[in-house]
Amino acid sequence: MLKEETVNALNEQMRKEFYSSYLYLSMSGHFEQIGLKGFAHWMFVQYQEETDHALKFFNYLKSQGSRINLMDIKEPEHEWSSILMVFNETLNHEQYVTSCINDLVDISEKSKDRATWNFLQWFVDEQIEEEENVRNVIDQLNLIDDNKSALFLLDKEIGQRIYVPLAAGQTGK
Ligand code: FEO
Repeated sequence: MLKEETVNALNEQMRKEFYSSYLYLSMSGHFEQIGLKGFAHWMFVQYQEETDHALKFFNYLKSQGSRINLMDIKEPEHEWSSILMVFNETLNHEQYVTSCINDLVDISEKSKDRATWNFLQWFVDEQIEEEENVRNVIDQLNLIDDNKSALFLLDKEIGQRIYVPLAAGQTGK
């Protein structure tokens, strides 16, 4: 049985993961509006992955017989003044999520909760990949600067991103 502090923290993290999915879906909509279909697709995959993250918390709480609280998700922004701004905000957000995951690991260590600690290791690894993916896009955007032909090609390339659903064992279902 999970401790109350852990249950509250896991529910709060589930809310943050759902907010992440909401934010990236909003970014996907923004890219659709400005005709960047590849970027819109990349962000849509990001939205799908974040929904999976939230469901991992849902399913973990369920498997532990713990209380599940779905909370308010705040309204994300809808417009950004540049592509780079979108990805800088994404990186900042992912760095924030990484710090939240680290705080959760601290809670599990403090209470010697091995099961929760073990559950969280997937997220520790995932955050490294998430931040790296976003940094790669930022690097490419900085390289192409204002070159419209290069942006056209990058939009095509980034649109190849494939959503890989989590295997049953990974979602905790
Ligand atoms: Fe679920 Fe991108 O953090």
